[in-house]
Amino acid sequence: MKKLIVATSNVGKLKEMQEYLEEFDLQLGLKPSELEIEETGMSFMENAILKASQVSKILNEWSIADDSGLMVDELNGQPGIFSARYGKTDFDRINRLLGELEGKNNRQAKFVCAVAISNSRGQIIIKTEGICEGEILTERRGESGFGYDPIFFVPEIKQTFAQMSPELKRKISHRGKAFASLTPLLKSLLIR
Ligand code: IMP
Repeated sequence: MKKLIVATSNVGKLKEMQEYLEEFDLQLGLKPSELEIEETGMSFMENAILKASQVSKILNEWSIADDSGLMVDELNGQPGIFSARYGKTDFDRINRLLGELEGKNNRQAKFVCAVAISNSRGQIIIKTEGICEGEILTERRGESGFGYDPIFFVPEIKQTFAQMSPELKRKISHRGKAFASLTPLLKSLLIR
């Protein structure tokens, strides 16, 4: 396996994957934008598996997909797999979440990221998951990052994701952890 299709048409996500997989001699490519895979799974892992295996089957290539989002305890795990669809913009999504948690004491939450790699026949060969535990603040703090970063506070670091350097977030985030678990598995697959 030398070529790996990233099951997204988002250039930003391709770049991010390139960074996580930079130690490998892999040629990463975007899936064609006209090839839309509906995220009908009930979990992050189901969606990652669905995206990787569908893209592989259609293109007859190995592929990698991830799916991620924020699960808030007080909201029974919501927005979860609906994190991207929780509002029209990041600003709206954060406002909605702050509104739903107004006056609530339980601010526990976690970011989850699932990653799946499929072979060219659509069989899932590697799957890993990463979790980052934190708390939802009552107001925004920090300017970096994207999505829910300004309200997601990591107690051990005493910073929100939006206050962290990209290097630190990369190391401790749900995505960083999912890729840290994936790396040794991919290594042993590539030297086989
Ligand atoms: P996707 O897996 O890239 O589709 O991400 C789903 C949604 O979860 C994003 O649109 C964000 O709203 C949210 N999300 C996932 N990862 C992060 C993160 O690291 N920071 C902030 N928001 C995130």
